[in-house]
Parts: sequence; C-alpha cells; structure tokens
Amino acid sequence: MNMYDLIQKKRDGFTLTTEEIKYIVNGYTEGEIKDYQMSAFLMAVYFQKMNKKETVDLTLAMAASGEMLNLSQIQGTKVDKHSTGGIGDKTTLILAPMLAALNIPVAKMSGRGLGYTGGTIDKLESFPGFSTSMTKEKFIENVNQHSICVAGQTENLAPADKKIYALRDVTATVDNISLIASSIMSKKLASGADAIVLDVKCGTGAFMKKEEDACLLAKTMVQIGEDAGRKTVALITDMNQPLGRMVGNSLEVQEAISVLKGEGESRLQELSLQLAAWMMVIGGYEKEISYAYERLKSTIDKHLALDKMAEWIESQGGSKESVYEGKGLKRASRQKMIFAEETGYLNCLDATEVGKSALILGAGRVQKEDKIDLGAGIELLVQNGTQIKKGEAFAVLHYEEEEKALQAEKILKNAYEIKCDKIEEKSLIKKVITIKDC
Ligand code: URA
Repeated sequence: MNMYDLIQKKRDGFTLTTEEIKYIVNGYTEGEIKDYQMSAFLMAVYFQKMNKKETVDLTLAMAASGEMLNLSQIQGTKVDKHSTGGIGDKTTLILAPMLAALNIPVAKMSGRGLGYTGGTIDKLESFPGFSTSMTKEKFIENVNQHSICVAGQTENLAPADKKIYALRDVTATVDNISLIASSIMSKKLASGADAIVLDVKCGTGAFMKKEEDACLLAKTMVQIGEDAGRKTVALITDMNQPLGRMVGNSLEVQEAISVLKGEGESRLQELSLQLAAWMMVIGGYEKEISYAYERLKSTIDKHLALDKMAEWIESQGGSKESVYEGKGLKRASRQKMIFAEETGYLNCLDATEVGKSALILGAGRVQKEDKIDLGAGIELLVQNGTQIKKGEAFAVLHYEEEEKALQAEKILKNAYEIKCDKIEEKSLIKKVITIKDC
C-alpha cells in the first residue's frame, strides 16, 4: 500500500477499504505520511465524498488512534451529549446537574476549542478554584461519589483527529459532512460513553445554515454511533438567534445558575430539558420523553439540581457560595448599554454577529494560545419577536477596554433588524433523528 495510489484512488472516485483508511489515519498520526500528501487526500475526499462505510471506517480509525477511555468502573449507563456549537449554548451546565440530581451518571470530557466564546471547560473555570485536570482514577471516583464530573479532554484522545482537523483548517477542507461527522464522533467514541445525544445546530449562528445540511450531518453521525454500538439520537435545533440572554463565559455560568433557580429564559430551559430527557430515554433511565421531562423539571422546581451543582463545583475545587451567591465569579469592570435606533419588532438577531461582537470583547479565542477574558461578553435584553422602542436599551456590553467596546457596539448594531411587522418565531426543535431515519 502506498499513499500516492490511495490519493489517486479517491481522486478518481473509487471507494477505499477499511484497511486502506486505517493505513492513512495511522500513517498520518505517526508522521510517516506527510502534510502535503494528506492535504491532497483531504481535498480528494472533499470533492469525491465518502460513502457511509468509509465514513464509519474513518471515524473508528481516528477514535482508535489514541486512548479509548474505559468507563466500565462507573455504575450505570453513561450517556454523553454533544453540541455542534452555537452562540450562548450553555446547556451542558444546566442538564448535567439535573441528571446527576436524579443519580444518573454524568462523566463528561469537554474541550476548550476556538470560537466566539470559550468551551464548557473555559466557562467552568469562571468558578474560582475549579479544576478540570485530574487523573482518570479521580474522574471515575468523582462520578461514582457525586454522579457528576467534567474533565478536560486528555491529550491522547483521538490524536489523529487533532492533527487532521488542524490540517483541514488551513486547506479549506473543513466543511465536508463525512469529515465533520467523523471528527466529532471519533472524540465521542473515544470518550467512552455508552449512548450519545447530539444537538445539531441549524441557522445563521451554526456550522450548518440549512436544515437539509443539518439533517444530513445528523444522520451521518447517528449512523456512525449506532454502527459503533452506541445508541445515538440527534436533535436538530434552532441557532438563528443566540440561546438564552447571555453570551460570554462567566455570564453564561450565571445564566445557567438562574435556570437552575427556576428563573431562566424559556428557550434555554426548554432545550436543556429536552436534551436531558432524550439522554434519560436512550440511556434506559426512562421509557417516555414526557415522564423524563417531568422528573427533570422537578429537579429545578425543588432546587435539587441547584444543590447538585453546588456539590459538583465544590467537588472539583470551587465553592458552594459561588453557585448560591455568585461569590468570586469573574465580572467585567465596565458595562455599556446599547440603544435601539428605531421602533418596531426585533425580527432578526443574527447569532453569528452577536458571537463576533463577544469575541472582540475578549470572550473567545481565534488561536489556541489566545487568553480568554472570562468576565467579558454580551447580555441581550430582548429576544427575537419582541417589540422595542427607539432609545430603549436592547443589550449590555461587559468589557474592559473602551476601544474594543466601540468595535463590538458597531457589530452588534448590525446584528439587529427592526421591522414594522412581527415575523413568526422559529421552532426551537426542528426534528429528532434516530437510526430509523438513516
Ligand atoms: N467540530 C469538530 O470537532 N470537528 C469538525 O470537523 C467540525 C466541528
């Protein structure tokens, strides 16, 4: 076998075998296949595509390129959740303590990542003292003791994906369904979950702008998960406007806490409950979504999930007071209100533009080395479909540097469209994809 022949085979539209895909993935991970050949191969995949079997083979080879976490020492079925990424998405911070409050184990490996705001790990570090680096033994012990632990992804988790993703990023080969699906699912499979719920975002603030593309990505990932023996379900959810009111790390943590106190924004609470209900059902903890939903909702109503969050944060080095009273949570030193320039209905709040604005304030990172300002971000005072008057505040910037706030304000003002008529609100959950749909 040699790489030249395999590039040619894919370039000419032929199907690769399992052995050939393993050869490419292992060869590239070990440095025997060079970047220039791998780039050519990825471009061939981009144009010729991969079929279902090739995509599954690619995923399994990438998952097996590093450590495959064994969570069998944790009692019960381990269900993981993954979101393809959206603005203001803090559902993990809400659903994880809800599930743990029902004694359902949440053993989650999360990333930091690049983006408009930090990843779950960055957000959690808004709690002073909170640590996500620990031994595997401690991770397992924490889940068995508290039903919940969130740790940073280990360096050796799907290293092939890390290397290939970095190359895709600079060779214009990111947006291919097989490559995206295999990249996401290789990390999920290596993380050791028995079942997986995928939140595939769709809309202006998502990777997938069109519903049909989001469905195709969802079906591909569900197929991969099921072929790998993990029960997998995907929800296609709206990302035409940010999820919830807060965009930014510490701000999102505060919003997650307010949902657990029963004071949260309704779309955010609803999506968190629905995703968690699906996790319970595919994990075999409940038969019907409606029953699961009610049990989860009661963890909010009775403050059980809030208490569980306090216990969880303390178990990883933080303090209960930061959950109950917001003590020590990072806050930006300056705030600036942004006012509407017209009267009408807020009909289009472009999630990507809100994200860009938050990034400028320091809430996210463009490069791996960038340092996040945990206190920076945007508070949205109105949602799509709300009536607003000229001169009324629609958002608050949280920031440190005046210059950045001016740039962010300009972008944010372009993220809004105010119209005379109210448009119909987009449904939050557009579809549920199971293996029957694949
Ligand atoms: N997220 C990933 O982890 N991989 C991709 O290819 C795209 C998004």
